[in-house]
Amino acid sequence: MAETNRQWIFLKRPRGPVTEDMFELRRSRVAEPEAGEVLVRVELVSLDPANRSWMEPVPTYKPPVAPGDVMHSFAIGRVVDSRAEGFAVGDIVEGMLGWQDYAVLPAEAVRKRNPRHSLENLLGVLGITGLTAYYGLIEVGKIKPGETVVVSAAAGAVGTIAGQIAKLQGCRVVGIAGGPQKCAWIVNDLGYDAAVDYKSPDFTRELASAVAGGVDVYFDNVGGDIFEAIIPHLNIFGRIVACGALTNYNSEVALPGPRGLQIACIVKRLRMEGFIVLDYLETWDKAEAELVSWIDAGVLKPPVDVREGFENLPRNLIGLFNGTNMGKLMVRIT
Ligand SMILES: NC(=O)c1ccc[n+]([C@@H]2O[C@H](COP(=O)([O-])OP(=O)(O)OC[C@H]3O[C@@H](n4cnc5c(N)ncnc54)[C@H](OP(=O)(O)O)[C@@H]3O)[C@@H](O)[C@H]2O)c1
Repeated sequence: MAETNRQWIFLKRPRGPVTEDMFELRRSRVAEPEAGEVLVRVELVSLDPANRSWMEPVPTYKPPVAPGDVMHSFAIGRVVDSRAEGFAVGDIVEGMLGWQDYAVLPAEAVRKRNPRHSLENLLGVLGITGLTAYYGLIEVGKIKPGETVVVSAAAGAVGTIAGQIAKLQGCRVVGIAGGPQKCAWIVNDLGYDAAVDYKSPDFTRELASAVAGGVDVYFDNVGGDIFEAIIPHLNIFGRIVACGALTNYNSEVALPGPRGLQIACIVKRLRMEGFIVLDYLETWDKAEAELVSWIDAGVLKPPVDVREGFENLPRNLIGLFNGTNMGKLMVRIT
């Protein structure tokens, strides 16, 4: 293998937001797979808020990225050399491939995917993103027809799919997103019943009017002030799906929880439950089949925001925290 392997190396842990000087572009030789391993040509890299969490020195559901490592990331690509049973050249695989052109991994660290679908859909709506929206609403939120569901970061990767799934289940769906353009998009293109711009000076009043009948399920992607603003509107026996905490990820210190939550939990008999999509790994195939059936029927749109260029990985990750994406953010590196 004559080609070089471009790699973005993680240099130092952030103390606050991610900056470009935390990464260095290096070139190395493409490694040869050993027995039981596959060599994968990385094609599309997923950019996720979790990339930021993995930069902290504490383990999450996986070990953190250490300074000197190739930056960790979910990605999808094709097998170009295999010394593992069951994997052949040309197979599409996904896994923690990292910010690099080529990854060598043990076969058990990658998942073979169905070539019938586009790489964008496999990495987005049929990958972590879509499955997170699916399990968060169906298994954790236990949404029912007729209920009002509020989704924050509603124009992002998980949010765009969550809103559509809630609609498909017969719910009334209100999205919270940053800016009038995103709010108009999720209503007009994705079928949200209403959208509220959390950057508006009238956010509190606009939220109250959009959820006048109360909120049965809050799908929380952000935490912080937005979560706090929802609490007075939660109905008795309301559920809070703790999916993510975007307002916290760039903070050097643990932020206090939303005010008013404890009393509201008691008085309104609320249930708040966190989850990690990997908890449901054993049933992913079934959930994927349902997502595919909705896409095939034309009732679920998978919005993707694909950027080009290996060299643009760090700046696109930074953009994720500045709200530059609409739908699932990924970078094509081939
Ligand atoms: N539990 C799980 O297993 C699991 C799996 C995947 C993802 N997640 C979580 O799900 C959430 C959404 O992830 P995603 O991949 O779909 O990302 P995403 O929503 O596509 O990307 C981030 C978006 O969030 C908004 N945002 C960024 N910083 C914010 C802040 N400080 N306050 C409010 N909004 C902010 C921005 O949109 P605006 O312009 O609207 O601000 C931005 O476009 C994240 O918290 C992530 O960690 C959880």
